Amino acid sequence: MSLYPNYPLRTERLTLRPFTRGDVDAVFAYRRREDVARYLFDTSLSREECALAVQQRIGQVALEAEGDKIILGVELADSGVLIGEVSLIWRSVEARQGEVGWIFDPDYQGRGYATEAANAMLDLAFGPGDIHRVSARCDVRNESSWRLMERLGMRREAHFREHAIFKSRWDEEFIYAILWQEWQTLRAAQTPS
Ligand SMILES: CC(C)(COP(=O)(O)OP(=O)(O)OC[C@H]1O[C@@H](n2cnc3c(N)ncnc32)[C@H](O)[C@@H]1OP(=O)(O)O)[C@@H](O)C(=O)NCCC(=O)NCCS
Repeated sequence: MSLYPNYPLRTERLTLRPFTRGDVDAVFAYRRREDVARYLFDTSLSREECALAVQQRIGQVALEAEGDKIILGVELADSGVLIGEVSLIWRSVEARQGEVGWIFDPDYQGRGYATEAANAMLDLAFGPGDIHRVSARCDVRNESSWRLMERLGMRREAHFREHAIFKSRWDEEFIYAILWQEWQTLRAAQTPS
């Protein structure tokens, strides 16, 4: 099946919506930073590179074929300030596999916004997306990312040791995942009776 969500997606404190041309400066504010880029495949980005990235993201709003990505800007509902982005990639159509990711402005970290936005992406994947398993990956040194995966209820499935080269060094990677059934159980436990 395909996935064409109705935007925006809303959570208690956040609005998740497609990127627009007006987002370049807000994206540059966090993608220019070395601390944000440390565990990303990209290096820190110039303003021109951010403009290109935003241009690409404007079209990444639906899942129609394997490999497609939904990448949404995350805004504070109160102020409309763009604080980061979350993504869902369709890894396998046949096996209904998805992968989530996140990048947030350090000025807005430490308040649970990434957890809230990522939960909305899992709801999207497991609800209208009909995905069976959602995974996430990160460098083992990226503790804030794997702790986020654990807050979401994902299980650590793998620790790949020296399996690739990342920024000229051996890569050490964690893979986390959650199944549709596990997500249902978690959601049922969170719903007041
Ligand atoms: C990975 C990343 C998104 C995590 O951000 P984060 O701010 O740690 O995550 P959250 O927004 O969910 O905030 C969680 C923190 O807020 C606290 N918090 C406050 N209120 C909260 C709430 N209502 N709900 C959950 N956590 C809350 C948590 O206790 C936690 O703090 P702690 O780390 O001191 O334990 C962020 O570090 C990042 O963007 N890194 C750079 C890009 C990157 O590496 N991306 C991942 C590539 S794999």
